[in-house]
Amino acid sequence: MPKHYLSAADLSRTEIEAILKRATQLKAHWHATRTTQPLLSGQTLALVFEKPSLRTRVAFEAGMNQLGGHASYLSANDIDMGGRESVPDVARNLSRWVQAIAARVFAHGTIEQLARHAAVPVINALSDREHPCQALADMLTIAERREQIAGTRLAFIGDGNNVCHSLMLVCALLACHMTVACPPDHQPHPDIVAHACSLAERHAASITVTSIPQEAVEGADAVYTDVWASMGQEHEAARRRVVFQPYQVNPALLSLAQPDALVMHCLPAHRGEEITADCLEGPQSVVFDQAENRLHVQKALILTLLDR
Ligand code: CP
Ligand code: NVA
Repeated sequence: MPKHYLSAADLSRTEIEAILKRATQLKAHWHATRTTQPLLSGQTLALVFEKPSLRTRVAFEAGMNQLGGHASYLSANDIDMGGRESVPDVARNLSRWVQAIAARVFAHGTIEQLARHAAVPVINALSDREHPCQALADMLTIAERREQIAGTRLAFIGDGNNVCHSLMLVCALLACHMTVACPPDHQPHPDIVAHACSLAERHAASITVTSIPQEAVEGADAVYTDVWASMGQEHEAARRRVVFQPYQVNPALLSLAQPDALVMHCLPAHRGEEITADCLEGPQSVVFDQAENRLHVQKALILTLLDR
């Protein structure tokens, strides 16, 4: 059975720490030399994307190049997974040509089905339930800015969505204290909350869910937000703009956090909606470090899943 990475909780704390360490080394090597390391020469990663992407796609493509391998991008127009060809058949075909598959899907069930039928590792490049590669990059970014990840107080403000879910699981595994503030009808999924809380108990972490943003941000070391309408929810954008207005990350809200609190966002951002331009562009913002770190953690992740 290949090892998949569909959920942030598919890796143990030890495995995540090893990936972050490796990512740090890969990043240092890349910055020092700008040369490839032929750790994956001849290897191909398939990118099966049902939705658009800038960061995830380019980070995987550039990452495979930097490791001497290759990535093959397949959009919904190319393969129409589940339409032109069933998900199990896509998985079984790809497994004969490539050494790993990264998939961005609408329904999380699609990536689970892909993984069930693939003979190679499958990586969740975003589903409606989780965005675990993003959470790894976020933790690397926190590690670069703070003495240690453990004990970090992270506030997530906005939609209890895929990004929030993976962050909750990783925070629980890495001994962080995460408080999530979402409108009552947009709280994180109860199953993920329960899973994160049970992991938190075992790892000296804590996970708190509230609907009051000020409560979450009070004293936080990092303040994180994401778009109010995710990909596939565009038709709800107008309604969501009203519901989420009190959850905007702006100077007044940020002033409740630690004075040097990190401002985090997975991007793309909608300035003036979930975050004001001055917060996103301000001195506390690490959003482009998060984006760069996608590259290095995804290289480390692929090497780990392929036992390299
Ligand atoms: N943060 C992120 O996953 O960006 P993309 O949607 O551009 O890949
Ligand atoms: N929650 C967002 C994340 C984008 C990277 C979405 O799913 O569209």
